[in-house]
Amino acid sequence: MQFNIEDCRIVELPIVHNDNGNITVMENSVDLPFDINRIYYLYDVPMGAERGGHAHYKLQQYVVAASGSFTFILDDGQNKKEVFLNHPNKALHIVPGIWREMKDFSSGSICLVLASIAYSEDDYIRDYQDFKNYRKNG
Ligand code: TYD
Repeated sequence: MQFNIEDCRIVELPIVHNDNGNITVMENSVDLPFDINRIYYLYDVPMGAERGGHAHYKLQQYVVAASGSFTFILDDGQNKKEVFLNHPNKALHIVPGIWREMKDFSSGSICLVLASIAYSEDDYIRDYQDFKNYRKNG
């Protein structure tokens, strides 16, 4: 099954409010449509830097602006959309088969990623033409 960019949605996560600070929780089988097998976070991104430039065959992700803000550009081979993330209780669900680029990282921003599978270079499509062929021919 092929997904498209409309399947990449912003999910509002619950907040445990407290005058002394909030907590947001993501728990397998409760708040997530996949089980977390890996967590990583991107930080110390220099001003003006762009990242990403790849798609994945199987990987699903929840991406959260744990601090600051940044923009994801999502592309399903037909359509593109930009998603601005700037709050720790909003996660962007990225489904398989979507080309993504990231830009406009604010100073000190932290991009937290909850990933459905372990890291494997075999799951990456890093060439845009390969991605277009994959979307066309499967
Ligand atoms: P990449 O996913 O291309 O980064 P981004 O999409 O943020 O630009 O990964 C950059 C490098 O980091 C790449 O050489 C592989 C390595 N890496 C790991 O070793 N493990 C991981 O879980 C991730 C996400 C990346």
